[in-house]
Amino acid sequence: MLTQLEQIEKAALDALKNVQDEASLEQWRIAHLGRSAPLMQVFDQLGKLSKEERPLIGRRANEVKRGLDNALAEQSEAMRQAALARTLTAERLDVTLPGRPIGRGRLHPSTQILRQIYRIFADMGFQIYRSREVESDEYNFEMLNIPAHHPARDMWDTFHTTAPGVLLRTHTSPGQIHVMREYYPQPIRVILPGMCFRYEQISARKETQFNQVEGLAVGHHITFGDLKGTLSDFARRMFGEQVRTRFRTSYFPFTEPSAEMDVECFLCGGKGCGVCSGTGWLEILGCGMVHPTVLRNGGYDPLKFSGFAFGMGPERIAMLRYKIEDIRYFWANDVRFLEQF
Ligand code: PHE
Repeated sequence: MLTQLEQIEKAALDALKNVQDEASLEQWRIAHLGRSAPLMQVFDQLGKLSKEERPLIGRRANEVKRGLDNALAEQSEAMRQAALARTLTAERLDVTLPGRPIGRGRLHPSTQILRQIYRIFADMGFQIYRSREVESDEYNFEMLNIPAHHPARDMWDTFHTTAPGVLLRTHTSPGQIHVMREYYPQPIRVILPGMCFRYEQISARKETQFNQVEGLAVGHHITFGDLKGTLSDFARRMFGEQVRTRFRTSYFPFTEPSAEMDVECFLCGGKGCGVCSGTGWLEILGCGMVHPTVLRNGGYDPLKFSGFAFGMGPERIAMLRYKIEDIRYFWANDVRFLEQF
């Protein structure tokens, strides 16, 4: 029986040498250490042996069993190590490599200009007031002294909605009425930035949507001098101390008198060039003293109150500032354009 145990041990260890993977290792365990393995049969027969033989064979059988258990554990560990080494070489990771740079976004040029405008007017004591982009005909036109069929409506090509009297605002001026109705009877100093929409043929100079920044000041003694002073100061803060400005008379139904402000062309310095069509001046905003009818529509008595208003186009300012020759770049979402600012 001792020789039989030797053979069992040798056969098992030899067989183990051919085991390469988990599955055949499990088969080996069943064959050599499982219930019906030859070694187990030896244990089963121990009872039938004589008193002298039993401890001898029993001890040896236990030794063989321990030896095979250890061999199984070693083989299993060796295979685990080999598998680990394989994945480590296959999935090699160089932790010293520099990380991939995260692409940084930047503010849209319109946003940059808008924020500069906010800052300048905030420094002058103006608050920012937002009003809706979808407006009523009443606020966009009627309340601003532009009745239905008034020829001045031609100045604003309008996107109408299917709901009667509901449209996309063509300018930020309807916000003037919202502010006045909310603030009455307090004095007002606000700017109203936001998107406006016009039913335009899109071209290098015209888009169907663009931002405006409206300004409104209402108080007891506001004069045209305040308007000129505020806007000239704005131009100096926006374009630099030396910039020259001029006011030209103009017409808007909601201001009287009305004007447009030009700044000296910063491309040619006033000499005249292609950008300023040879005039040396660039128009950047419309403005005027709030029309008495508009003050009244906002709830303010024009005999006791006066005010000024203005509306400027940040995209227009950005175009002049950065020499952008086509307004369509602004909403074209081309990163090659946007990355330049
Ligand atoms: N709302 C005018 C426009 O869109 C600009 C403007 C605003 C003019 C306020 C005067 C006063 O052209």
